[in-house]
Amino acid sequence: MLKGGACGVLLVSTVKTIEHSHLVHRRPRGVYRLTAVILCGFVLHLGGILIAAERQSYPAFDEEMKIYKGTDASGSVSELQRRLDAGATRLAHEPAFGYLTALLKELNVPATSQLLVASKTSPNKALISPKTPRALYYNDQVSVAYVPAAEVIELAAADPKLGVVFYTLSQSATERPRLQRDDRCLECHASAKTLNVPGILVRSFLTKDDGEVELLSGLLVDHRTPLADRWGGYYVTGRHGKQSHRGNLFGTAAIARHEKDPLCNANVTDLAPLLDISRYPSAGSDIVALLTHEHQAHAQNLLTRVHYDTASALRSGDSLRPAYPAIEALLRYMLFVEETPLTSPVQGSSTFAEEFSKTGPRDGKGRSLRQLNLQTRLFEFPCSYMIYSSSFASLPQEARRHFYRRLWDILDGQDRSPEFAKLSPESRAAIREILLATKKDLPAYWRL
Ligand code: HEC
Repeated sequence: MLKGGACGVLLVSTVKTIEHSHLVHRRPRGVYRLTAVILCGFVLHLGGILIAAERQSYPAFDEEMKIYKGTDASGSVSELQRRLDAGATRLAHEPAFGYLTALLKELNVPATSQLLVASKTSPNKALISPKTPRALYYNDQVSVAYVPAAEVIELAAADPKLGVVFYTLSQSATERPRLQRDDRCLECHASAKTLNVPGILVRSFLTKDDGEVELLSGLLVDHRTPLADRWGGYYVTGRHGKQSHRGNLFGTAAIARHEKDPLCNANVTDLAPLLDISRYPSAGSDIVALLTHEHQAHAQNLLTRVHYDTASALRSGDSLRPAYPAIEALLRYMLFVEETPLTSPVQGSSTFAEEFSKTGPRDGKGRSLRQLNLQTRLFEFPCSYMIYSSSFASLPQEARRHFYRRLWDILDGQDRSPEFAKLSPESRAAIREILLATKKDLPAYWRL
């Protein structure tokens, strides 16, 4: 109700403002009306507003960003560079994809994690279009962005001390390939959109006929975003029943068609008719890889935020209190309390789901936090596998101690606040047992 009402009011005012500017720009009125209608659907969803408001509430850092820029990186990408320098490995360059295949292999990133996105937002912007989208690949540690025929591959790597660090790799064949750190990327990758820490970006937006992003249409996406608002600008492959989304729609005609028939772009399993897919190492933009990526991206940003808030709090005093809100947000997010439920089963288009789940770790009953549900929610057990990430492990000890205390209170049923009421006693027990069997750094009182 609220959503519809707010949308109506804002739609009227948007059309008015736009019609006013029409006098200045002399653009056909119909286009603006369509844009306004579409933007209404895009921007004004209540879930999107709440997520945007939450993200605005994290102030920027000055001191931490100075430290970031002055500190050497130590994540998986700088580790790979060390191995290259030492001659312990080399990157093969091949005609089709340059260094991409070798790079993914060295970084242990599955090609099936491929996501295709037509956003013109990167140093490779000129080459990106709906026919030649940017491909993203990822694992828990690192994301790799590739555009066919582009001069550089871009990377974003989780770093134990710094959050996320950005690199480029030239695609020109050379004896000594260099993964070059590039802090200029922070212009977009450390902003209110990433909780004001160096982080990962996931958006849903409207693509205009020329492939440019309709700037006003951007919505930040994580596992709380309704599916109907997700994947604008992305290709989406796989099956998802009657759930509608904004993927596979490029240009105003496609978007207008979707307004009338919300499933016209749904359940696509073959991209071959839409673009030259042979220019990419995988054939799809797997819906399960999309869902997992969106979950992970915001978890990563929250982990970094907790890291920075803790460091800053401890520098200016000995109380962790200023970091509590970020720790609480991380806890809620990692326990999926506001996750958007699935209303039909979801099935990916590749072996991504299998490969992803296989990694474990598992408890004595074979259960794992990486087990996917895909019927009513993303994961079988609502506690994020990012608890095994290097970013979690390298949180300052004080922050981890507080996180574990709160997590224990919730799982043990002592925290009865309505926020966590959605977690069933069975889920709480299962999560506790899995963590006890798979996490080495739990405080002793967990085991009593
Ligand atoms: C103009 C803003 C902007 C700049 C500058 C920018 N990016 Fe991004 N980047 C984005 C957005 C937005 C996304 C999300 C995917 C999309 O919408 O294209 C993204 C996604 C990525 C991803 C995939 C992981 C993720 O965050 O979703 C990588 C890797 C990446 N960028 C690397 C880089 C590197 C390396 C640089 C600097 C050389 C850089 N980016 C500069 C906006 C930017």
